[in-house]
Amino acid sequence: MADMSGHAGHVQGAGAGSPAVAASCAEMTEAPSNAPVKRFELTAAVTEIELNNGKKVEAWTYNGLTPGPELRVQEGDRVVVKLTNRDVLRGVTIHWHGVVLPCSQDGVAGVTQDAVWPGESFTYEFIAKHSGTYWYHSHQRSSQQAQKGLMGRLIVEPKASAFSYDRDYAVTLQKLEDRHVLTNGRAGGLALDAEPGETVRLRLINAYNRVQWMGVAGAPFRVVSMDGQDLNRPGLLEGQWVGIGGGQRYDLLFTMPASGKVRIYSKQEEKWSVTLGEGVEPEKLAKDAPVFDFTAYGKPKDDGITPDMNFDRTYTLKLGPVNINGNSGHQVPPLIVKEGEWIKVRFEHLVGGDEHPMHLHGHLFKILSKNDKPLTGSPIYADSVMLFEGDVYEIAFKADNPGLWMEHCHNLGHAFVGMTMMVNYE
Ligand code: C2O
Ligand code: CU
Repeated sequence: MADMSGHAGHVQGAGAGSPAVAASCAEMTEAPSNAPVKRFELTAAVTEIELNNGKKVEAWTYNGLTPGPELRVQEGDRVVVKLTNRDVLRGVTIHWHGVVLPCSQDGVAGVTQDAVWPGESFTYEFIAKHSGTYWYHSHQRSSQQAQKGLMGRLIVEPKASAFSYDRDYAVTLQKLEDRHVLTNGRAGGLALDAEPGETVRLRLINAYNRVQWMGVAGAPFRVVSMDGQDLNRPGLLEGQWVGIGGGQRYDLLFTMPASGKVRIYSKQEEKWSVTLGEGVEPEKLAKDAPVFDFTAYGKPKDDGITPDMNFDRTYTLKLGPVNINGNSGHQVPPLIVKEGEWIKVRFEHLVGGDEHPMHLHGHLFKILSKNDKPLTGSPIYADSVMLFEGDVYEIAFKADNPGLWMEHCHNLGHAFVGMTMMVNYE
């Protein structure tokens, strides 16, 4: 058992490997519409790149870059991306992390499509339904390919934003080949323009496997969005560390101070840093400053989804150090769902080990409770929930996107050794 591409076998193991099921995912495509079309071409290739610190690295790139080009579209656009593999020998795909799209466009090699081999192409097509901060990465041998550079940012700009800002930046935290600490591809940190008085929306994407504690020095800030989904009336924060798990996104909003400079940096890897504006270097956060808590942040908003509502099915997933319910990969029984059902999933991380950012494909879920206490702030909709040792979370989702979907830890090292499973529609 190696990578996350082997799940076709699992489907067969579950007795669902008949052509009917495979075909049903392939048949899930976006219906024709009059949505404006945004076209992109991405070519995957083995590339020698030179970092800005002069180091040369063999990277696997989209269009010669890592991260690949930032794709920016508008909410409601039809996004058409032609992927060509020039010479990545083991094949590539593109998974649109966090995007709710038809199964056939999900980019999971061996599950929703075959890997795209050297010389081949595959065209993805989906409607960018939800605005927000997303990213893309190869989902063929993901743990290796994302780390070698096959990933980039996807920003879906809102038609009407709940928040107003003068600058909109997106930033990828990446560790190329597990060694080079890069902020939007730059070693040693990134500098961005912003003038005193301007409001900045900073979209942080953790493309690395481990949680990063990001501090904002120099200005009070709000967390306006998690995993691309806006929060309801988020309050002002000051001097807190925001923990972003592998694959997760946090959008921060702040106004540039008169002193001119704001700095956002990781507690563990200070080279993951973004400096905005010029002026006086702000004072750093204390290492033991408080940690951002989303369970009581922002204002509640009734959406009818509560921990004690009626669920059609409830599942419990006990997370081990690198397994799910004591099983790995193909051995983990799938979550079976049926179109139209409401599903509750309880994650328990009680045995010990590193944090697990558990990620679900094809659906947004709502985080209901932490350690059996219902969330009291803004509703949190997300495609991942990060559990530290001792954590229990319950999430809810509606089974409204038929197909074959992965649920896995986005510490891709954990996924590689088996912390993956499927959600299958019956
Ligand atoms: Cu970024 Cu299967 O995920
Ligand atoms: Cu994990």
